[in-house]
Amino acid sequence: MTIYRCRVLDTPDDPFTGGELRSHDDAGIAVEAGVIVDRGAFRMVAERHPDAEIVDLRDGVLLPGMVDTHVHYPQIRAIGGLGMPLLDWLDQCALPEECKLADAEYARTVAREFVTGLTTAGTTTALVFGSHFADAVDALFAEADRVGVRVTAGLVTSDRNLPEPLLSTPARTYDEGRKLAERWHGHRRLRYAVTPRFSYSTSPAMLESGAALAADVPGLWFTSHINENPAEIAAVIDQFPGSANYLDTYHRHGLIHERSVLAHNLHPTDTELALMASTGAAVAHCPTSNSALASGSFPLRRHLDHGVAVALGTDVGAGSGFSLFKEGLQAYFMQQLLQGDGVPLTAAHLLHLATRAGATALGLDEVGDLSVGRQFDAVLVRPTAGHPLDVGLRHTDSAENALAKIFSLATPADVARVWIGGDEVAG
Ligand code: GUN
Ligand code: ZN
Repeated sequence: MTIYRCRVLDTPDDPFTGGELRSHDDAGIAVEAGVIVDRGAFRMVAERHPDAEIVDLRDGVLLPGMVDTHVHYPQIRAIGGLGMPLLDWLDQCALPEECKLADAEYARTVAREFVTGLTTAGTTTALVFGSHFADAVDALFAEADRVGVRVTAGLVTSDRNLPEPLLSTPARTYDEGRKLAERWHGHRRLRYAVTPRFSYSTSPAMLESGAALAADVPGLWFTSHINENPAEIAAVIDQFPGSANYLDTYHRHGLIHERSVLAHNLHPTDTELALMASTGAAVAHCPTSNSALASGSFPLRRHLDHGVAVALGTDVGAGSGFSLFKEGLQAYFMQQLLQGDGVPLTAAHLLHLATRAGATALGLDEVGDLSVGRQFDAVLVRPTAGHPLDVGLRHTDSAENALAKIFSLATPADVARVWIGGDEVAG
């Protein structure tokens, strides 16, 4: 057994429904076989487990591992394409890079870069948009498995409106997806998600093939994009004349349920929000991407009013990096700019969105905060001595204020140590 002695912050109680930030200045967190088995004042925990090894982490602040509910593996090298709306950015920036993953060796290199991007940012769990190429998705799962990060991912499917190398057929994607799902779904910390790119690039037959795979392999997840950009939405409605709205293009194939996570949802109708709430589908809010592509402002208030679950995603590479601290800060800015229509977010809200809310959206009850019974997925934020975050953390008047400084100033350079299931991740 190991006892981590630490200053710890987490959000087991939802601040959107009255919960408060949980903060202990000198906590003991006892971990056995990767699971938190005791927690309390350090002296008490140490007394209860006299033989435990003590690891002193008081030179930093311990947080739960971050959960990224929307991030694109083949786009790490496409980060930084500024100045374009969604469809132009896809054509000019993202899709040419994604074509390169047809080369399995290239894909293996990118998979290593990508998983490093996650863990060095403090992300321990992610719902990952895979590649259009089955070997590249296999490489992602293999690398995630090697490092131990919790990844849900799948083969991205499309059969229209994309560059030819990214197109496939419903039959082929079913076969490739089935092989990947049989190999990786439920293997250790990995799960498979049916992943049509978006309705604009998938025919009804392609969506049907995803539904068939989900019917044949129990427990698969579903993820895609929705309601991101007005031109995209108009094109989707045009292509699915029988559908009432964007969500219906997925829902009519049985793809919307409690294991569905939809990215963006900046321009939903009330009908769509009501259906998301009643089916238990969650939304991945990706604020740096939405800002970079000028896609719109996230109507968080309407999501909360309808009871739709919301978590955070980085949306690398339209998003500007792997840090969920940055996404949290940008989510805060976006709600501020909405003024009366926005939700005033506190630092506790941001931490909840980046951790517990993500775990809930992904159905992973075992992670998301540092309570007894959860896996020890944790991040030590320890800034360089003398840097602004270090100065800030030494001059705070409250835990909430310390957390606000972390969301304002922390970058991956401040993430000193990361554990997943009690195992420390190298780097
Ligand atoms: N819609 C379809 N594909 C993508 C993508 O790669 N990024 C974003 N932001 N939206 C998309
Ligand atoms: Zn995306």
